[in-house]
Amino acid sequence: MNALATPFTQQAGIEVPLICGAMYPATNPELVAAVSEAGGIGIVQPLSMVYVHGYDLRDGLRLIRRLTAKPIGMNVLIERSSRAYLERMRRWLEVALAEGVRFFVTSLGKPRWVVEQVAAAGGVVYHDVTDRRWALKALDDGVHGLIAVNDRAGGHAGGTSAEALIGELGDLSRPVICAGGVGDEAAFVAALRLGYAGVQMGTRFIATDECRVHPEYKRRIVAATEDDIVLTERVTGVPLAVIRTPYVVRVGTRAGPVARWMLRGRRTKYLMRTIYALRYVWKLKRAALGGGSSRDYWQAGKSVAGIHSVEPAAVIVRRFAAAARAAV
Ligand SMILES: Cc1cc2nc3c(=O)[nH]c(=O)nc-3n(C[C@H](O)[C@H](O)[C@H](O)COP(=O)(O)O)c2cc1C
Repeated sequence: MNALATPFTQQAGIEVPLICGAMYPATNPELVAAVSEAGGIGIVQPLSMVYVHGYDLRDGLRLIRRLTAKPIGMNVLIERSSRAYLERMRRWLEVALAEGVRFFVTSLGKPRWVVEQVAAAGGVVYHDVTDRRWALKALDDGVHGLIAVNDRAGGHAGGTSAEALIGELGDLSRPVICAGGVGDEAAFVAALRLGYAGVQMGTRFIATDECRVHPEYKRRIVAATEDDIVLTERVTGVPLAVIRTPYVVRVGTRAGPVARWMLRGRRTKYLMRTIYALRYVWKLKRAALGGGSSRDYWQAGKSVAGIHSVEPAAVIVRRFAAAARAAV
């Protein structure tokens, strides 16, 4: 009997209710494999796999397969502003299904087409949501579980606390995963106690041996306290959690006036989003891999509070699992 079994671990076919969330540009094949091999589940970020780490998606998935036979997942970002991007995502989904991936995390947009293809292959789709309204839409599209992104999350943060979100989503008859703010085993156990079926972590797994980002980025995560984390609109146009640096303080955290004007227009908003997307892909890659310049952004969530050293990913998964077993 697995003392840590939840509806989520049963659906995903894993032992520990812990996800290493997709991270552009921090997800690399070795990190995904290490988390899955230790009993959690690592999520491939296809843009990171292809544009940051230089693998063809199929080759990258096969590399992971050589490192672990256990389940892995893939992130499908449904960004509708570019048709070429959406087409590429459709092809990537087909490749992932052909390579045996059966767990998918969708973000943004309407996940129905992903659910249809994945369910036909016997897989499951969990959708990122920040409130009940988006959760109900995702349920209409047939998703199998919800990832509740709270106000402490790394990446694009939500606006609601973990405690309030489980209150909003707990009665929807789907497993709900807590995303945001979990950096140590006490917070992991606390999230499971709140009623979450699992926890998705990002920032904690950047400070690991397997993550290929520059050592300076890991050092900054270890050194940061939660008061160092701020939300800025200047990278993607919507609040993104980053470490406060002198540069972030100098330029401020609101989108510039031209960007704000373009984001309000019915046609110009798509162009502005594309500009943001290109800048995001380029700027964040440069900071994460190159050690950064004084004008770079370091993405991290408030979970930095619980992160005190760089460790192997498997050590983290095992320590969190042991704490949860002891609490059960
Ligand atoms: C550097 C970074 C990049 C991220 N990129 C993505 C992404 O590409 N797609 C996605 O769905 N979530 C992304 N996220 C969100 C994570 O998957 C996860 O939900 C979040 O990090 C949880 O909060 P935590 O960092 O406090 O653990 C990112 C998070 C970070 C820190």
